[in-house]
Amino acid sequence: MELPKFLILFLFAATVAWSQQQFPGLPSLRQGSSLTIEKETALLVSPNGTFSSGFYKVGTDAYCYAIWFTNSANKTVAWMANRNEPVSARGSKLSLHKDGNLVLTDGVGSTVWSTSTFSNAGVEARLLETGNLVLINQSMGVIWQSFDFPTDTVLPSQRIVKKTMLVSMRSQGTYLSGYYNFKFDDTNILYLIYNGPIISSVYWPRTDTTVFYSKRTPYNSSRIAILNEAGQFRSSDNLNFNASDYGVGPKRRLTIDYDGILRLYSLDESTGLWEISWLPSSVQACQVDGLCGEYGICIYNPHPTCTCPYGFTRNNPSDWSKGCSPSFNLSTDSSKLDFMELPNTDYYGYDLGTYRFGISFEACRNSCLNATRCRGFGYALDGQGQCYPKSLLLNGYRSPTSRMIIHIKVPRGFLSSHALPTKFETHDLNCSGAQVVFNSNNPEAERNRNWYMKYLIGFVGSFAVIEALCVGLTWWFLFRKHGHEELSNIAGYMALAMDFKRFTYAELTRVTGNFKQKIGKGGFGTVYKGLLDDGRVVAVKRLEGVLQGEAEFWAEVSVIGNVNHRNLVKLWGFCAENDHKLMVFEYLKNGSLDKILFSDVEFGLEKRYNIALGTAKGLSYLHEECLEWVLHCDVKPQNILLADDLEPRVADFGMAKLFKDIHGIRNSHGIGFSQVRGTRGYLAPEWMMNLKIDAKADVYSYGVVLLELLSGRSASSFLSTGGQYNEYNHLVHWVTEMIGEEGLERVIDPRLHHEFNTKLKRLMKVAMSCVQEDRKARPAMSKVVELLLENDE
Ligand SMILES: *[C@@H]1O[C@H](CO)[C@@H](O)[C@H](O)[C@H]1NC(C)=O
Ligand SMILES: *[C@@H]1O[C@H](CO)[C@@H](O)[C@H](O)[C@H]1NC(C)=O
Ligand SMILES: *[C@@H]1O[C@H](CO)[C@@H](O)[C@H](O)[C@H]1NC(C)=O
Ligand SMILES: *[C@@H]1O[C@H](CO)[C@@H](O)[C@H](O)[C@H]1NC(C)=O
Ligand SMILES: *[C@@H]1O[C@H](CO)[C@@H](O)[C@H](O)[C@H]1NC(C)=O
Ligand SMILES: *[C@@H]1O[C@H](CO)[C@@H](O)[C@H](O)[C@H]1NC(C)=O
Ligand SMILES: *[C@@H]1O[C@H](CO)[C@@H](O)[C@H](O)[C@H]1NC(C)=O
Ligand SMILES: *[C@@H]1O[C@H](CO)[C@@H](O)[C@H](O)[C@H]1NC(C)=O
Repeated sequence: MELPKFLILFLFAATVAWSQQQFPGLPSLRQGSSLTIEKETALLVSPNGTFSSGFYKVGTDAYCYAIWFTNSANKTVAWMANRNEPVSARGSKLSLHKDGNLVLTDGVGSTVWSTSTFSNAGVEARLLETGNLVLINQSMGVIWQSFDFPTDTVLPSQRIVKKTMLVSMRSQGTYLSGYYNFKFDDTNILYLIYNGPIISSVYWPRTDTTVFYSKRTPYNSSRIAILNEAGQFRSSDNLNFNASDYGVGPKRRLTIDYDGILRLYSLDESTGLWEISWLPSSVQACQVDGLCGEYGICIYNPHPTCTCPYGFTRNNPSDWSKGCSPSFNLSTDSSKLDFMELPNTDYYGYDLGTYRFGISFEACRNSCLNATRCRGFGYALDGQGQCYPKSLLLNGYRSPTSRMIIHIKVPRGFLSSHALPTKFETHDLNCSGAQVVFNSNNPEAERNRNWYMKYLIGFVGSFAVIEALCVGLTWWFLFRKHGHEELSNIAGYMALAMDFKRFTYAELTRVTGNFKQKIGKGGFGTVYKGLLDDGRVVAVKRLEGVLQGEAEFWAEVSVIGNVNHRNLVKLWGFCAENDHKLMVFEYLKNGSLDKILFSDVEFGLEKRYNIALGTAKGLSYLHEECLEWVLHCDVKPQNILLADDLEPRVADFGMAKLFKDIHGIRNSHGIGFSQVRGTRGYLAPEWMMNLKIDAKADVYSYGVVLLELLSGRSASSFLSTGGQYNEYNHLVHWVTEMIGEEGLERVIDPRLHHEFNTKLKRLMKVAMSCVQEDRKARPAMSKVVELLLENDE
């Protein structure tokens, strides 16, 4: 391939202009001369200085000959000669031999790389303004150019042809060839492929249907593509796109990144930083094959991150593609095997067998159990009996939209001997694994339990704390709304990432003035007031006792961070550094509902009604509409914060999930349990009855809050304190008795007596339906919203 003559002449003229010594470095390398590492200034620089080339440090005393963007913040590399074979500083050099061969030699003089060109007609090496390193002869004929041998990047005017192949870096900051390729395939389509040591698979476009869907065509066999100076990409297969900042001006590069995603970047010259100006919308980062290696699972954090399943450990701390290893050996005896369930997860590919539909779960499970080759199976949650036994668990990803549940083969007994979030059930809102179990070491607890069975509600006696239990209060759940699709592309996640930030511990120490102003303390930790640099006031919650690793914590926290609702407190960021786990929330200066409800201030029905309605909307959103279904498990006035206009914002949702690991520990009697931080007085009766917990438990607690709003009495004032106890034991009990014996008036907060109207009665009716013992009789949160809005003019 030749550059047009006029371009060469033009560049030559520019090179002459360069001799005014505008830029440090050389305009060209002549025959018989060489560049060494020791002379750091010995760079080739393009005429206007956009690109530089020279020895680039890739490690301690490891250098590659490279071309980079002079003005980018970290000298972003556009090309490398010897990416897989770096040389050391001492004695290595790049020489243009007399015979026209450009040769890179290491310290002992052996050839590491060369252009293998031959010409004795006054050859020169030049770096053109396009970023192309060329060898030209006296008559300006190009005899070699780096544009013909790209590494992971193509630059504007650099053509992608039949033989062109971009190869990603191995990992961030490792310039070694990685496993992702971008090239034309045999059917004339530009595609992205994972070409790993064990397997290879195409991940974009995913299938033939995608090819046609995206209007790509296999019928033009010229196989040529080019990005022009204006940022327009054109390809013979019809992959045409424009940079979002279309136009001549910004320096651009099209790079296949170490994570397997192809991105077009534009350079912001003022900061030296790159901005993404295009990426293939249909590639989701987590669906890039091989990303997390064997057994590894990619999750959105919101940035794609790899994790290992429970009981597995990461093989190489710096290279996720090495995947995870189990902490156990599998027996070949199927009676000694079991499966661990991972909801909303799939491992792509490696299916054993062909019968995939209409298979019962049991049959699917057995087929995997019996087959030694089977490492696990996927079973889809769509009632079609889709069964995918797998010989390899690779290309794992978890996403709330995935209907697949993966069952990984583990030794029998593994599930009960590990602190696992045992069984998840994703298809209904069902707090499975969240059974309340009383500590059987405590006979008093046992007695109390019987007491509960009798009264079903309330709490009495010296048995001070019930550590009711709740695991996995948060579900990944199939999100049914189209709106969610916006979230599933990378751009969506990036947008979200903007106002959800990871803070360092040092930053938060500064923000809170070394944790000076304590504004609250709850079951999960202490809350401090802070001031961000941008002037926002924040509440920084310092969590105590989170044993989760950083990646996991990040994953869970970002789920909470992705929840956006007017009646839910907004999470702005978090910090996870070693043992420090903190969350940064918006600060609401009116504090929580209990402060105003249980004080003497005037607090009219209209305001209370609005708080009841807003709280119901927030909870309803959590239960039914948000990204994943989330149970709150600790609804109480202390967790209902009030914005300026007294609009309620529910706080502390999703928290139980962050703590699941520590509380999933078995006790000596082998009863798996974990802990609910629900609050006495608000806990639904099913907590005490060892039943599974579902959304109706939140409805109950919400009902108690409504009764508090109506009566002005705190549920906790009914509980025993210091050996004495109120004869009614429970607010619900008291309200029920009072209404029965003396009528509604007796129950209502004296501050509301002049407001005895239909709204108040409606509120009471809803409250009583929410606190029914039979959870089936309680309305769903969305129904509560409906009831409260009824006839509301
Ligand atoms: C170099 O910069 C000059 C002045 O800004 C400009 O006129 C010229 O077109 C540039 N040359 C190249 C090759 O970009
Ligand atoms: C440059 O590289 C360093 C070290 O890898 C990194 O910490 C820094 O964030 C990078 N800067 C930019 C602007 O990418
Ligand atoms: C310079 O290179 C061009 C292209 O390879 C070739 O056609 C031409 O003959 C060469 N000129 C000389 C003087 O070698
Ligand atoms: C094939 O693609 C090339 C490059 O885009 C284009 O110039 C050519 O006209 C196309 N051929 C046909 C038959 O469409
Ligand atoms: C890119 O921009 C050019 C000029 O505005 C326009 O003609 C072309 O249709 C655009 N291409 C795409 C794929 O949007
Ligand atoms: C698994 O088996 C290998 C070899 O048989 C043994 O070295 C290793 O300790 C075993 N690992 C576990 C977790 O039992
Ligand atoms: C697989 O195992 C199950 C239960 O152990 C057994 O009922 C079934 O017949 C076995 N199937 C095959 C194909 O071996
Ligand atoms: C929870 O889910 C299981 C399995 O689908 C179901 O059998 C059970 O009835 C559910 N429990 C509740 C309380 O809905």
